[in-house]
Amino acid sequence: MSEASKPVILTCAQPTGQLTIGNYLGAIKNWATMLDDYECYFGVVDMHAITVKYTPADLRKNTLSCVAQYIACGLDPARSNIFIQSHVTGHTELAWLLSCITPIGDLQRMTQFKEKAAKLGFNVGEGNELKFTHEGARAQASVNSGLLMYPVLMAADILLYNADAVPVGNDQRQHLELCRDLAQRFNHTYSETFTIPEPFIPEAGARIMSLQDPGRKMSKSDGNQSATLFILDEPGQLRKKIMSAVTDSESEIVAREDKPGVSNLLQIYSTMSGRSVAAIEESLKGEGYGTLKKDVADAVVAQLEPVQATYKELIADKAYLESVLKSGAEAAQKRAYKVLGKVYRKAGFVERPR
Ligand code: TRP
Repeated sequence: MSEASKPVILTCAQPTGQLTIGNYLGAIKNWATMLDDYECYFGVVDMHAITVKYTPADLRKNTLSCVAQYIACGLDPARSNIFIQSHVTGHTELAWLLSCITPIGDLQRMTQFKEKAAKLGFNVGEGNELKFTHEGARAQASVNSGLLMYPVLMAADILLYNADAVPVGNDQRQHLELCRDLAQRFNHTYSETFTIPEPFIPEAGARIMSLQDPGRKMSKSDGNQSATLFILDEPGQLRKKIMSAVTDSESEIVAREDKPGVSNLLQIYSTMSGRSVAAIEESLKGEGYGTLKKDVADAVVAQLEPVQATYKELIADKAYLESVLKSGAEAAQKRAYKVLGKVYRKAGFVERPR
């Protein structure tokens, strides 16, 4: 019906373990408010996840867990299309076409590629060539070409659906720029085909920072376990991590630039409870950090308890998850085939005889 006239949003997440409250508050909760105004596609990108070392059994488990976490966090499958990337034909096909209009140098210049390569013991040099950071690295590792191609596959994820807008974190800004460049280059080379996707990037104020180093974003891959709150952490664990969060030597409970730890706790409290930071500051006047932390912990636990209960039900109900993924993949595939067919025609491929 009116479905066709709604703008399309698409976003994806890698199925790498558990979602953090940063993912929940900074991203998923916002997506959940868009379900009625947009035609929504939410992908779990398992093919991106194999660019780094992984265990197949874990990938399978984490992918399903990620789907269940999405739904538990409020992505209603009745009002959105939740799918697994490897279930839809077209992501890698389009990535191949796009790779043929992507200069290698553009990929070697990507910040995340450099970071990932550096972890493997490589530097990207002046001329974009890969160099070992130390001789020992040569024997230990190599940079696989999937890691380099990662942003092209991501561009394909987006363009395959002709998405109007893509909600992503600030760390994905450069990848989205590349996607827009590729769409423009394709349109220019072959004629108007792709919608140029707009990034939806949340404001910095809504960012949830590490509990141990509030200058850095809360991250699921943080080496320090107590820096990050996962949405599936037991209530006891959540409380323990919050009670040991970094604050400062003063005692005033206010959000201020020179008090990043306290500001972060207030931000978490506010987003979790729906109360404004100002109202919380007012109600905690004269109290100490211990009270603040206890209140934050109560708010976090209260918000996450129903999410965790729903998750437990979902992950035990394989048939339901499969039905969600089946209809998600069908809707995604339908749209993907339409775009891919058009792309193949424009690229000069002979139409498949029917
Ligand atoms: N690279 C993104 C991340 O790590 C995940 C991703 C893959 C993505 N394909 C996408 C995000 C398409 C948005 C749209 O967060």
